[in-house]
Amino acid sequence: MNSLHAQAASPADTSNRPISLFIPLDGIIGAETDGLDLSRPLDGGTVEAVRAAFRDHHLLVIRNQSLDKERMYRFAELFGPIEGHMIRLADGSKWDAVHTITNLDAAGNPVAKPFISSNYFWHTDKSFLREPSLLTMLQAVELPPNGGDTQFADMTAAFDALPEATRRRIDGLKSVQSLEFMRRYTGSAPPTEDDIAAAPPIAHPLVRTHPETGRKSLYIGMYSSHIEGLPEEEGRALLEELLEHATQDRFVFTHRWQHGDLVFWDNRCLLHRATANFEMGKHRRVLMRVVVKGSVPE
Ligand code: OGA
Ligand code: MN
Repeated sequence: MNSLHAQAASPADTSNRPISLFIPLDGIIGAETDGLDLSRPLDGGTVEAVRAAFRDHHLLVIRNQSLDKERMYRFAELFGPIEGHMIRLADGSKWDAVHTITNLDAAGNPVAKPFISSNYFWHTDKSFLREPSLLTMLQAVELPPNGGDTQFADMTAAFDALPEATRRRIDGLKSVQSLEFMRRYTGSAPPTEDDIAAAPPIAHPLVRTHPETGRKSLYIGMYSSHIEGLPEEEGRALLEELLEHATQDRFVFTHRWQHGDLVFWDNRCLLHRATANFEMGKHRRVLMRVVVKGSVPE
């Protein structure tokens, strides 16, 4: 077959090929595709392929998207119920569960110290809730010229790499997750009485089992205050030791944002953090965000 033929044949070939939409990212976790248009509903086979890729890679990057709130909500909803403001208002603003995270002040100007600075510490979203976040989805709206990366750490690989004795020591332990602790730990404003009443500290397994893959991973990060049943000092030391182990370079992937990126990750088995590697007082960084609610960690 000459090259002209090969070119002419390729569109038909693509439609018949079994779906392998995603290619692994250059790192320990994650996969990407530029072959999806999420502005339109996906067919059942494609939905299954995306779900399978999410289960296998834990972090997906879908390039070249420009979704409005409703389309982003609709796509996220394929993975489970949406977390947040679920009351449907008269004007249909159910989509307000899709919000933005930015380094802008109320007047819309970039500020050197972002309003929410706890994002710059390793964490898994809302682990202080009884049913923490399953998946968090971000879409690039405005990016700084360089930097503003998001980092992810693989808690399954980190668990697997622990010495056998440590794995035995921590299996069955529970860590107490606390909003109040996190605010102190990250130097943020203390929570109000109402905040604490709405989300009192809760104990979750230190090692959780992924409900879909059955694999064990460390469930730690900035909300992990202490270990149930251990003296406070000893629990803190263990948590710090595990976090240091689990966030070594070999377990970390750094996502460098491109315009059009839609990124989502599995909070059940990854930690993440924002990186302040850009001139925050000068450049704008705006991401659309929506979160899928998870189940009680086991
Ligand atoms: C989040 C988060 C990190 C970032 O949206 O939950 O932690 O890079 N974001 O903005
Ligand atoms: Mn987060």
